[in-house]
Amino acid sequence: MDLKEILAVEAQSYLDNVDTLGLGTGKTVRTLIKHLHKEGLLTKFNVVCSSIDTELAVSQLGGKVLSIQNGIVPDVYLDSFDTLVRRRILVKGGGGALLREKLLAAHSKTRVYLGEGWKLREFPVSVPLEVVPATLHYIYSQLKREGYTVSLRESTGKAGPVVTDNGNLLMDLEARESEDLCQLESRLRGIVGIVETGIFCPNLYDHIVIAHDSSIERIERV
Ligand code: 5RP
Repeated sequence: MDLKEILAVEAQSYLDNVDTLGLGTGKTVRTLIKHLHKEGLLTKFNVVCSSIDTELAVSQLGGKVLSIQNGIVPDVYLDSFDTLVRRRILVKGGGGALLREKLLAAHSKTRVYLGEGWKLREFPVSVPLEVVPATLHYIYSQLKREGYTVSLRESTGKAGPVVTDNGNLLMDLEARESEDLCQLESRLRGIVGIVETGIFCPNLYDHIVIAHDSSIERIERV
């Protein structure tokens, strides 16, 4: 079993008595969906997803997908992350689904994140930002003036930038080592046109499960 499969097995322990399941986006979540399908569990849940990609993955395997626009409150939200900084702050958005991921994390009863040990890293940290298209150049100039390195995320499947499921664009900002990421998050959210950042502070998780090569580590929110 690879580490993502081990994480999928671990995730199952959070699913007792769950009716409505929230799911994040990415390879870890795809492995989890396949695992639930293989175990005959996927159809047990009403699933609300953080991206069109995850909605397709669930529905293609016969799972029941509810629209995120219905304001469903998941019993449990399962997702992954790109980086866990200082075993405390999650950075997400590698798959460009940060806004809906944060929305579901903010409204779910229990939030569980799954990741491999190599995702525990320190700086440099690249922070994804979802921005309204018309504001892009203003934001770029402002962040450059403040001394940040920022780039527009380019698509690989088409010419031009990545467009999110919400019709916005993505920028990636190099956070400074001296910076408190949660303070940076609230400062960035104060800039007109930045609708979300990939920084997930401890208020947005309950459990983090980390698969190392030969052990499982659990971090609980304090
Ligand atoms: C998507 C995310 C993902 O959770 C993150 O990119 C990790 O993905 P993967 O499971 O493919 O490593 O934040 O927006």
